[in-house]
Amino acid sequence: MSKGLFISIEGPDGSGKSTQIENIKQFFCDKGIDIVFTREPGGTAIGERIREIILDKNCSEMDYMTEAMLYAAARSQHVAQVIRPSLEEGKIVICDRFVDSSIAYQGYGRKLGDAVAIINGFAIGKCLPDVTFLMKLDPRIGRRRIDADKQDRLEREQDDFHIAVFEGYLELEKKYKDRIVGIDASRSIEEIKVDIYKKLEELLKGVTG
Ligand code: ADP
Ligand code: TYD
Repeated sequence: MSKGLFISIEGPDGSGKSTQIENIKQFFCDKGIDIVFTREPGGTAIGERIREIILDKNCSEMDYMTEAMLYAAARSQHVAQVIRPSLEEGKIVICDRFVDSSIAYQGYGRKLGDAVAIINGFAIGKCLPDVTFLMKLDPRIGRRRIDADKQDRLEREQDDFHIAVFEGYLELEKKYKDRIVGIDASRSIEEIKVDIYKKLEELLKGVTG
């Protein structure tokens, strides 16, 4: 069993993840606690190269199963090289997206279903977050917050894709009640931060006793 603490942040594109990740980093910095911050797809040199291929706007012919396997391949490297060793050293790992993104985007959005959990089982083994913050926001609102010219290959998908992704997240929230903390992301940045900080305080009490 790992001694560290593994926190992931999930949600539709434009739901405010990056904004709240900055707040989460600040929370730990204010307490003088070192964290390992990482992201998916990416987080390792190999993973960042896979990321370039997956998100490239010119790769529009990519088969959906290829896409799911590339995310899982990047994740496998990430778990082996960064996440598992850090947790074994007792560190706090904060990850911008993890396996729930694949279940929501490839399983529900691309409609690949259970195959996604199966291939990701090979990638992560038993390495699952202790807590996942899920930023809950209507994906149509989230996408309006992102400039059209900055959108990557996934973000450019139509509304029905993003709605299916969001429904996937809501299913995951119901299924993993103990792990996934739903956050109403339609509120102000400050209100959301207060919610997240409260949960982080609880988590730290659990870790430090
Ligand atoms: P994500 O990382 O989930 O794609 P960002 O944190 O980059 O989302 O936010 C997308 C855009 O929405 C940014 O311009 C950000 O300033 C803005 N934003 C973030 N949180 C909120 C919020 N609670 N209310 C309104 N706008 C927000
Ligand atoms: P990212 O650039 O981190 O976007 P954001 O700032 O919105 O989080 O994520 C890249 C895109 O990859 C995003 O649209 C979600 C998608 N994605 C998947 O489809 N499956 C996955 O397993 C992961 C990790 C991300």
